[in-house]
Amino acid sequence: METVYLDHAATSLPKAPGVAEAMRAALGLPSPGRGNARRGAESAALLTRCRGAVARLLGVGSPERVVFTAGGTDALNLALFGLLKPGDHAVVGVLEHTSVTRPLAALRARGVAVHPLDCTEDGFYRPEELESVLRDAPAPVKLVALSHGSNVAGTVQPVAELAAVCRARGALLLLDACQTAGHVPIDVDSWGVDLLATGGHKGLLGPPGVGVLTVGERAEPQLNPARLGGTGAGGGEAMPPDLPHRLEPGTPNLPGIAGLLAAVEWIEREGVDALHARSVERLSQLIDRLTALPGVGILGPPDASRRCGLVAVTLPGWEPTEAAAVLDASFGVECRAGLHCAPSAHAHFVTGGRGGAVRFSVGPFTTPAEVEAAADAVAALLA
Ligand SMILES: Cc1ncc(COP(=O)(O)O)c(C=O)c1O
Repeated sequence: METVYLDHAATSLPKAPGVAEAMRAALGLPSPGRGNARRGAESAALLTRCRGAVARLLGVGSPERVVFTAGGTDALNLALFGLLKPGDHAVVGVLEHTSVTRPLAALRARGVAVHPLDCTEDGFYRPEELESVLRDAPAPVKLVALSHGSNVAGTVQPVAELAAVCRARGALLLLDACQTAGHVPIDVDSWGVDLLATGGHKGLLGPPGVGVLTVGERAEPQLNPARLGGTGAGGGEAMPPDLPHRLEPGTPNLPGIAGLLAAVEWIEREGVDALHARSVERLSQLIDRLTALPGVGILGPPDASRRCGLVAVTLPGWEPTEAAAVLDASFGVECRAGLHCAPSAHAHFVTGGRGGAVRFSVGPFTTPAEVEAAADAVAALLA
């Protein structure tokens, strides 16, 4: 039985060509900025090259505004705990991942006021609704935290419009791009995104354990380092004031960053528009097949071009985790069932009390034959 991997929204597999080799080579390099050996310069150059590649891919004009983190969750924590203090007001969307909602729950317990932003029935945030939430908040809102792509609804949000509303109301926008970076074209500077967080191991096709936070000019003066420590330069008690060093204490994950660089350079060569077009094609094929099966419900819009490569479905007569277990064991189809770390998104779709949904997600190496095999397996399950 061949394995059909349709869980790219959890982590991409395989990684981009060259990632493993780049990581292995980096294990032979000294730490950047830590020793006096000449080879340390090679390590430092690798960090600079990766910052540049990520900045180009995400539309960030200044590479030093790309801060390396330990992943998407870490980048989100860095932004949320670095910005919000007791008495501040924040807005969070109903579709958000626990990587956003759990830090915000902890901050709420410390006196941060958190206001919800609802979405349309099919999972889109509306700029007009955001405008009214910001207007009606009892005090000026400091931060709005929204996902670019929902990991349950699959919806890709109208970021430029949402960012314009935030800017007009003096709020910063933190965009969770964990499901879109590498999958969907992104333009941080021209959209007006203040902070963007993403991990390297999903659409960016890199390894786990590395991610980035981009920090815009408006956010920079307000963002305190949530972690402190050595940066390899400067001996004072305070963190150096400049980016990225202010937010990057400790020895960097050089193999992870080398792997991310190889992955992002591969994406640049392929072209993110071309990769996006391919993922829309595969997802469209999958949605067409699944929605033709009697009783199958899809969460979010049927139009694959408004999605980030994933679709979550309810299967009549099947509890989601049981269905996924049978798809794996009997048909070799790997997908992800349950609440997908986003219980409020499932509450929105009224799937929370029913064990969530079964999510299928495609990647750049998914073939039409694999999509057919997965759809055939679901059809057999329901027969
Ligand atoms: C929307 C969203 N945000 C955040 C995360 C967490 O990202 P990471 O695995 O890089 O920590 C995920 C991953 O599941 C996600 O789907």
